[in-house]
Amino acid sequence: MSARIRVLVPGKINPRVVDRLAERFEVIRIDSADPALVTAEIQDAKAVAVSGRVPAALMDALPGLEIIANFGVGYDGVDVGHAAERGITVSNTPDVLTEEVADTAVGLLLNTLRQLPQAEQWLRQGRWAKDGAFPLSPLSLRGRTVGLYGLGRIGLAIARRLEAFGVSIAYHTRSPREGLSYAYHPTLVGLAAAVDTLVVIVPGTEATKRAVNAEVLSALGSNGVLVNVGRGSTVDEAALIAALQAGVIAGAGLDVFENEPQVPDALMALPNVSLLPHVASASVVTRNAMADLVAGNIEAWFETGRALTPVPETPFTRRSA
Ligand code: DGY
Repeated sequence: MSARIRVLVPGKINPRVVDRLAERFEVIRIDSADPALVTAEIQDAKAVAVSGRVPAALMDALPGLEIIANFGVGYDGVDVGHAAERGITVSNTPDVLTEEVADTAVGLLLNTLRQLPQAEQWLRQGRWAKDGAFPLSPLSLRGRTVGLYGLGRIGLAIARRLEAFGVSIAYHTRSPREGLSYAYHPTLVGLAAAVDTLVVIVPGTEATKRAVNAEVLSALGSNGVLVNVGRGSTVDEAALIAALQAGVIAGAGLDVFENEPQVPDALMALPNVSLLPHVASASVVTRNAMADLVAGNIEAWFETGRALTPVPETPFTRRSA
């Protein structure tokens, strides 16, 4: 393998990605995915490793670009349609984060229902001794019916965990999955009407954009709880805030937001929400595995002509060695 192959890293990324790539490639870093930062020296880069955006304009500033290795299973930051047109392979990091994200989803659901973060604050602030027991949580997982919006690898891992909690499970996806006993609903609003707990774990695409809207929240109902561990773009955040304020639904647990890292003050002011800063996969062990897969995809591309985990839109092999 040539040590002269250049890999461009726009913006911040897990340092292990850069360390791994630097063993075999010339790694060039720029502050952001702004094509104006691509100098003549950089423009022969054949690979991009990224945790964030790759717009079409950055791809077009790199005429020899062959592969974009995305850090994360969701690749909504990469203009994959443009990559497919240009014959550029895009890879992501499936599987290695499935169990971690599913664990976090269940934790966030329990935190939302049982107010465990607030209870810990009560203890830490000395209020247990001063004011007595923490108030009973109005909500519980007991007796709930959980609807999963999305039943891919992570959705299925969440469902499997929830089975052990003894709750009923239903789901909505574009078409039913074979061999499952969970109730299938052909529409999202139909799922929301049939359950009291909605867990969102779909990719951020045009089809899912603001799919969880005022109508879906109203169908979920006044005992309803929404948990989002997918993408912020899937939930109409203004409609969610209005629904939480008006008691249209009972609570929400959110790991993702429309305009990260900005979280609306109106959301932060609400007592019936549990908020996390997009940490579903954020443990050292899982982020290391994701970093290794980003580097592994680029290494495999130049060694074997195939990425390890290309996304379905770009099933390409390398044309020239
Ligand atoms: C993903 O993998 O898409 C996560 O959101 C990043 O942790």
